[in-house]
Amino acid sequence: MAERAASVAADASAAFAEREPVVRLDGISKRFETKSGTVHALEGIRQSIGAGEFVAIVGPSGCGKSTLLRILCGLEQPTQGRVDWGRGGEAPRMGVAFQDHRLLPWLSVEQNIMLPRLMLGRAAAADIERARSLCSLVGLTGFEQRRPAELSGGMKQRASVARALFTDPELLLLDEPFGALDALTREQITADTERIWTAQRFAALLITHSISEAVHLADRVIVMSARPGRVVAEFPVDLPRPRTDVLGSPEFAKLCSDIRKKLEL
Ligand SMILES: Nc1ncnc2c1ncn2[C@@H]1O[C@H](COP(=O)(O)OP(=O)(O)OP(=O)(O)O)[C@@H](O)[C@H]1O
Ligand SMILES: [Mg+2]
Repeated sequence: MAERAASVAADASAAFAEREPVVRLDGISKRFETKSGTVHALEGIRQSIGAGEFVAIVGPSGCGKSTLLRILCGLEQPTQGRVDWGRGGEAPRMGVAFQDHRLLPWLSVEQNIMLPRLMLGRAAAADIERARSLCSLVGLTGFEQRRPAELSGGMKQRASVARALFTDPELLLLDEPFGALDALTREQITADTERIWTAQRFAALLITHSISEAVHLADRVIVMSARPGRVVAEFPVDLPRPRTDVLGSPEFAKLCSDIRKKLEL
């Protein structure tokens, strides 16, 4: 069964890879040298993400998920292995949303969203227009001029996702951006994320502790083992979209349960 799941996943992944991989991770390992010894965070990660593919990673706390994401966005270097970008080695436009929203408290929502532009100089009228349309896309219309302290937790996360979308990313990296939210808000933001992805079709990598969130959003779910983080299983998600229509279906529940079993091994 596991072999079959892995081979079907390999087929699904190959189908996206054929389309043109945005990135290939070629045998990534990572060790941190600390005062108390070596921390072996990642071992032999080989994966590719196809253009327009939505990949989710689930795994126990400390298995190296955030490290992998930091390696992808260049904030960390692998000890072994390489990140190969598609399109002849040119890194794609990336957007990142972290677990904590990392909004700057002295800037308005609108200014936070166009921060990637403000860091390069003054924002043009077109940038302000784009920030406002992203506010509308993530459900923050009317809050453009508010400061982060005036927003609820869910609204801050929405602003953080909008900022990640500001550069019109070809690869969107999401590190548990909805982890701290209550279940209902989380379901709503997950549905909104699927709607935005369906309309824009960027490649996405979502790290999450929620199996149902992974199955709701992803074309493929990767399961990682405890430290050192290795890929122990992959599951293609062939359920129809929008997945909000199939959240209560037996197929959805079965897939979640199969993934949970792999996580518990
Ligand atoms: N800069 C660092 N220096 C030393 N050790 C580190 C560093 N960053 C991460 N680690 C260690 O590497 C391991 C993987 O950390 P990482 O944050 O990637 O895990 P994670 O899977 O994202 O966990 P969580 O689900 O709790 O967010 C952990 O043991 C962590 O302590
Ligand atoms: Mg993490």
